Amino acid sequence: MSQVFVIEGPTSLQGEVTVRGAKNSVLKLMAATLLAPGVSTVSNVPDIADVRIMCELLSRLGCGIDYDAAGGTVRIDVPAAPGTTADYELVRLMRASISVLGPLVGRMHAAEVAVPGGDAIGSRGLDMHQRGLEQLGAQVSLDHGYFVARAPRGLTGADIALPFPSVGATENLVMAAVLADGVTTIENVAKEPEIVDICTMLVEMGARIEGIGSSRLVVTGVPELHPVAHRCVGDRIVAGTWAFASAVTAGDVTVRGVGLDILPNVVDKLLESGAQVTAIEDEDPARAGFRVVGPARPQPIRVSTLPYPGFPTDLQPFVIALNACADGVGLLTENLFEARWRFVNELSRLGAQVSIDGNHALVTGVDSLSGAEVEASDIRAGAGLVVAGLIATGTTEVSGIDHIERGYEHFVEKLTGLGATISRVEKPDPVILR
Ligand code: UD1
Repeated sequence: MSQVFVIEGPTSLQGEVTVRGAKNSVLKLMAATLLAPGVSTVSNVPDIADVRIMCELLSRLGCGIDYDAAGGTVRIDVPAAPGTTADYELVRLMRASISVLGPLVGRMHAAEVAVPGGDAIGSRGLDMHQRGLEQLGAQVSLDHGYFVARAPRGLTGADIALPFPSVGATENLVMAAVLADGVTTIENVAKEPEIVDICTMLVEMGARIEGIGSSRLVVTGVPELHPVAHRCVGDRIVAGTWAFASAVTAGDVTVRGVGLDILPNVVDKLLESGAQVTAIEDEDPARAGFRVVGPARPQPIRVSTLPYPGFPTDLQPFVIALNACADGVGLLTENLFEARWRFVNELSRLGAQVSIDGNHALVTGVDSLSGAEVEASDIRAGAGLVVAGLIATGTTEVSGIDHIERGYEHFVEKLTGLGATISRVEKPDPVILR
């Protein structure tokens, strides 16, 4: 048996939703706790599958874990000498497992982390992680599917220039550099709010980092760090998902937990589609947010995905879903990842008219989509199909929901709270006769 989401459309989302911490930050914050022995606590933690995988990974490295999913806190007791091996069994479930690499090499001077599927050292994927660690003095090799890094005499500060502002490489290299001997400068780093969050936590742990939020980080190594209690930044991608869901469904949704300041280009595009966006100020970050009132029918938008503060690649499926029902022709240009188009094939099953040319998706809006069975291929594609299902007439059945639950907490409950007709249904697997 497997579970699917069954959605009855069309519907218009109305109401209020609260967003907790960013998946793409919390996993790295949890990894960063490895840098200091003792008990660190991360709060505003979302109740998602990836957090549980990171808990398991840290537990196998010898950490004591106390995860309160409902309360949104994870308490991590890091031993004096954590293990250094991250097994394939967990890494294959979650690519972000690679973020234990930097802290382990930085503190333990050794790490063996399984290479996530589809990546090969030296080719696209992990080359910047490898090259940066080598510049810090580690020896790095690929051994039986494991990324093996060794720095028997510790790491030494270096001048590193990233060829591209990779989120993962920036994080790993900063986490490795904070305990290195001397000063490390890293040019052309990623500036995502999640990077700012991790650097902020490292500083709270006693690290010395200048240039946080800019393209150039200067890290002055310190001999040791101390444990910390840190609140994770809100999830701008989940907030953006709700914003687009409101815009697409002619909805009226108030989103709390994420401010518009970390959604710069997203707001511009929502306005371009005809949505009204209003900020909600509040001193409490869990209450601050914004309200999106969708137009009767969206205007098509033109979007190019770019590193922050550009438009996030992770919101790409929602742009395509919006253009699919817009009054005209829209365009999405994907500049960060190749082969992110499996979502488009599925969306076509709902009647969307999309043509792909290289990294461009040209979308001709149709009057209405029609419900069908579709399959989620990754987290955002899955959520994009659910959003499309909300505006499709009739029943849409989304399979592969494990992907969605890796990144969206209580998705069905939150959608139901906004007035959607959606349920999680057990479905027997097909029997293939041999
Ligand atoms: C993170 C996010 C992901 C988001 C992406 C871009 C997490 C867990 N995931 O992924 O949701 O879509 O940022 O905002 O935080 N690259 C290389 N060599 C490297 C590293 C990256 O060629 O050494 C390439 C990748 O193949 C990809 C591009 O650079 O094409 C972007 O990768 P990166 O910014 O590193 O993204 P992730 O950290 O993997």
